[in-house]
Formats: sequence, structure tokens, C-alpha cells
Amino acid sequence: MKPIARLLPIAALLLTTTLLAADKKPPVIDVSKIPLPAPRKVDFEKEVYPMLKESCFSCHGAEKQKGKYRCDTKAGAFKDTDYGPTIVPGRSEQSSLIHMVCGLIDEMLMPPPSDKPGKSEKLTAEQIGVLRAWIDQGAIWPDGPITEFVKPVTFDGDIKPLFATACAACHSGDAAKGGFQADTLAGVLKGGKSYGASVNAAAPAKSPLLTIVAGLDEDLPLPEKHRLPPKSLELVRKWIQQGAK
Ligand code: HEC
Ligand code: HEC
Repeated sequence: MKPIARLLPIAALLLTTTLLAADKKPPVIDVSKIPLPAPRKVDFEKEVYPMLKESCFSCHGAEKQKGKYRCDTKAGAFKDTDYGPTIVPGRSEQSSLIHMVCGLIDEMLMPPPSDKPGKSEKLTAEQIGVLRAWIDQGAIWPDGPITEFVKPVTFDGDIKPLFATACAACHSGDAAKGGFQADTLAGVLKGGKSYGASVNAAAPAKSPLLTIVAGLDEDLPLPEKHRLPPKSLELVRKWIQQGAK
């Protein structure tokens, strides 16, 4: 390759990033590394806001504003940063928020990596695709309070697959340990021989099943087999809160 041909892609890259913010010096971003936007209309209240809530508000919400940034309000979310504007409506590839969640800005991967499993997990390519599509579709953030959308958690859709991997090896069929069947809704609700009903409808937070999968039941054998990772535990908690259906 002639030297000049080798420099061309670099020149193109520099050009794109210079266009980002003429007066600032944003880092060089290789936009080809960003996952593609979701090829459909995305819903801010159902998909985007809950994602920001789950992955960002703990550090960028009402209580904490790391890096002086908060994304639980419209005014806060669209802030300018030293790395370019966070959200450029219509141009997700120029939005520094997208560069950050993709880890394309040195030391600025958001959420920042954590050594605690289940805490502060990297967004998936699919989640980034949803964020991109929302920005490309105009980054519409309605004024006023956001209607919080609660995703229904069901036994068949969420808990059954989870328990199939985590519990069914010991808790299904005739030889189920403690007589506890983890593979059917009826079996889970009925509970085992000594603990009985696993869900406490009157006081959901006190359900024996929650204590068990939180790994907090000291009388059970094999605590490491009963303790679920934080995200799965949260799912079981939501399922019980929503009436265990
Ligand atoms: C565990 C805490 C934590 C989480 C979770 C987190 N961040 Fe951050 N964020 C930080 C810290 C710390 C900084 C400041 C880093 C620095 O300036 O070196 C920061 C800085 C930023 C900035 C730059 C602000 C500026 O003006 O420089 C943006 C934008 C940002 N975060 C977006 C996000 C988004 C979007 C999410 C969710 C997908 C997220 N962050 C999740 C800790 C977090
Ligand atoms: C490696 C095998 C194993 C796995 C995996 C396992 N358990 Fe257990 N579980 C046991 C044993 C052994 C007991 C004690 C049975 C006894 O007392 O006879 C038990 C007891 C229980 C009990 C109490 C039953 C009673 O006596 O009333 C419940 C509820 C339970 N497990 C739920 C779960 C759930 C939910 C999971 C998945 C997150 C799970 N277990 C995963 C082996 C396992």
C-alpha cells in the first residue's frame, strides 16, 4: 500500500470527529465498532428510561451525580461533556453517551467495570442498539414526569427458565430434594416438606423462597447452590412482588 493510501482512513476518521465539536478536541472514535441501531421504532418510556434507570441512575440520578452528570432528568441527560455532547438527536454515532457505553473513550466505559459480579454490568449490543435507535429517531424525551413502565415478570416467561438451570437438577421429579418441585408454578408455590408455601402473599418480602435464593437461609444445605446472582435474585423478588403468577 502506498503511504498516502494508508493515511486515508485515518484522515477520514479525524474528519468525522472534528465535525463532532468544532471548538473542543474530542478523542478519535472508531465508529465502525458501535453495534448497529435496532431496526425498529423504540419506546422511550418502556425501553430507554428503564435501561438508564437500571444501569446509570445509581451513579447519575437524584442522589449521586458522578462526573457532574445526571440522566434521570431531561435537562441533565442532554448535557455537553468534554468528549462532545452526550446525545445528538438523529446522530447516535456522534453522541458521546454511545461512545461511552461502547467503551470507545479511554477510561470512560459506562457503566464503569466492576469486580463484583452482577454489579454495574456492561450494556449488551442489543441494549446499545435500542439506545442508538432512540437517538436516531430524534431522542424524544417527553416533558414532565415519566410514566414508569413495570415489565411483567411471569413464571413461564422468566422464573421457569431460571429455575430450570439453577434448581431443577435437584428439585424436579420424584426424587426432588425436600419434596420441592422447582419446574412447575404449582410446585414452586406449594413449596417443600419442611418449609411449606414458598411465597408469603401477605408479606411478599418475607417469602421463604426469597430468603433461600438470597443465600440467607442458614439451615439449608449447599448454600452456594441456593444463592442466585443479584440480577436473578431481583427477578424472583419482582415476580413475588407482582403476585407470583
Ligand atoms: C458505578 C457508577 C457509575 C455508573 C453505574 C455509571 N457511571 Fe457514568 N460516570 C461515573 C463516573 C465515576 C464518572 C466520571 C468519570 C471521569 O470523569 O473520569 C462518570 C462519567 C459519565 C459521563 C461523563 C460526564 C462528563 O461531563 O464528563 C457520562 C456521559 C456518563 N458517565 C454516562 C453514563 C451512562 C449513560 C451510564 C449508564 C449506561 C453510566 N454513566 C453509568 C460512574 C458511573
Ligand atoms: C445441588 C442440588 C441443589 C440445587 C441445585 C438446589 N437445591 Fe434446594 N435443596 C437441596 C437440598 C439437598 C435441600 C435439602 C432437602 C432436605 O432437607 O431434605 C434443598 C432444600 C430446598 C428447599 C426446602 C425444601 C423443604 O424442605 O421444604 C427449597 C425451597 C429449595 N431447596 C429451593 C431451591 C431453589 C429455588 C433452587 C434454585 C435456585 C435450589 N433449591 C437449588 C439441593 C439443591
